[in-house]
Amino acid sequence: MRKINVFDTTLRDGEQSPGVSLNFEEKVEIGKQLERLGTDIIEAGFPASSKGDFEAVKRISDLVSDSSVTGLSRSLQKDIDVSWEALKNGAEPRLHVFLATSPVHMKYKLGMTPDQVVENAVESVKYARQRFPKVQFSAEDACRSDWDFLVRITEQVIDAGAEVINLPDTVGYITPAEIQEMFTYMKENVRNIEKANLSAHCHDDLGMAVANSLAAVEGGADQVECAINGIGERAGNASLEEIAVALHIRGDYYKAKTDLTLNEVKRTSALVSRVTGMQVPNNKAVVGDNAFAHESGIHQDGMLKEKSTYEIITPELVGVSSNRMVLGKHSGRHAFVEKLKELGYHNTTEEEVKRVFTAFKALADKKKEVSDEDIFALMTEEKLDS
Ligand code: KIV
Ligand code: ZN
Repeated sequence: MRKINVFDTTLRDGEQSPGVSLNFEEKVEIGKQLERLGTDIIEAGFPASSKGDFEAVKRISDLVSDSSVTGLSRSLQKDIDVSWEALKNGAEPRLHVFLATSPVHMKYKLGMTPDQVVENAVESVKYARQRFPKVQFSAEDACRSDWDFLVRITEQVIDAGAEVINLPDTVGYITPAEIQEMFTYMKENVRNIEKANLSAHCHDDLGMAVANSLAAVEGGADQVECAINGIGERAGNASLEEIAVALHIRGDYYKAKTDLTLNEVKRTSALVSRVTGMQVPNNKAVVGDNAFAHESGIHQDGMLKEKSTYEIITPELVGVSSNRMVLGKHSGRHAFVEKLKELGYHNTTEEEVKRVFTAFKALADKKKEVSDEDIFALMTEEKLDS
């Protein structure tokens, strides 16, 4: 099994979610929880962007010792200097410096030629390496860049001392087959690739961030960049929890794994949701409220006989206490009787169950979900609660 490094950017790209702004204490709390989760790298912020970000990155970098803490920096000496001040006391200070490489970004945003971009990137990486033991270079908008230009800049920044090269899908444009081919191309064509790791950083504009990250792993990516609950700029980043659990459950296919403590996933998700105010949709994979809930009678019956009929992830794996049988209009008699037993009704006769099940079905037709209180009321009405 190949180990894939998990680079969490909840505190940097995640905080770029429209409407989200975290205070110092909230950032530090998330940083500590990400360490507990076993994240390899925590991108704690963008130190040169504000005093608040600088302070939070510094505090997290001072506190956290089991994960490597990094901060984002533009390809400018003044940003690199500020990042060094924030990160220098950390257990493994690491700089994340970026510069765009796509034709549209180079022409309109940077006003630079491709040659100037290579020269500037090399200068920044060399400058950063005078301080930082580890430097990651990101070729912003890599997935809309020319692949041979990416090969050229990658070779040069590796020669300058970068040990991780990130190829972001900045605008969530690429497809899984394309990104897999792109990573394979880089692995096969960059002359000094053995000196560096490749990283994928996918955005979710077309809803493919997780699929693209996993496809990048298939193409040879050594690191995935993601955020808790998939939060981030615009439609967000790839969801950390979905990638990690997919690699765990389908390790047979990907032949890759992470070192995350998966049973910290739900707790981390709940913390991030609470402090950002961004609710997790009920149907969100892995961490949504319905991820381990079963409503249809056929499914509930299968689950009661053998869980693996309808459950590929156990709730315990990600720190959820148990699966949930939701009693609603699709539920069957088997699940209903189990619920009665769970609520303490052990001695109901066949005839009584038949009567109350009919009343339950009538109620379920009017309500989305029948609660425990509803069942107690039904049993009282049927005079079966004594
Ligand atoms: O999406 C992106 O390109 C980024 C870079 C700064 C890595 O977030
Ligand atoms: Zn991003």
